[in-house]
Amino acid sequence: MNEDIWIFGYGSLVWRPDFKFAEKCPATVNGMVRRFWQGSTDHRGIPGKPGRVVTLETKVGATCRGMAYKINAADVNPTIGALNFREKGGYRLETIKLTLHMSEPVSVKGIVYIGKPENPNYLGPETSKRIAAQVVESIGPSGPNYEYVLRLAEALRDLGAHDPHVFEIESFIIEMLCKK
Ligand code: SIN
Repeated sequence: MNEDIWIFGYGSLVWRPDFKFAEKCPATVNGMVRRFWQGSTDHRGIPGKPGRVVTLETKVGATCRGMAYKINAADVNPTIGALNFREKGGYRLETIKLTLHMSEPVSVKGIVYIGKPENPNYLGPETSKRIAAQVVESIGPSGPNYEYVLRLAEALRDLGAHDPHVFEIESFIIEMLCKK
């Protein structure tokens, strides 16, 4: 690629962007919600005992807040190569319209990793309590699944994002961990 790109992070990319970026900016996408409906067998779970991580689902009228990162043209190919490896557990790169919340909102075309229902690790909807129970029992090569949820919830609060789905799962997890 020979131009700079913006990548939208809404999950681990919000709190662990381990790639080179030129700029970062809080951002939103319209018509999408964050959901713990993607299974993880390579980071926060293992094959046969998947953890749960987030994906984006279409929802009319919704807005999802995350963090966008600008990658300079010269860094795009190696960065996307490394991210394709990191996100290989079912996520696909899609183009998306983003609003960057700079001093004034700016609309740009960006990219995002989404775990679509047709990918083999997709788990789909479940109650928040059951999702929390699965998270508490899951661990993978990147660490315990609960760490992913708690770090994400903390990062979203720092961003001023209102996400009842994430925050409800977070409180069930804290309750369950305290009883362990
Ligand atoms: C993202 O953070 O944007 C993708 C999903 C994840 O890696 O958690």
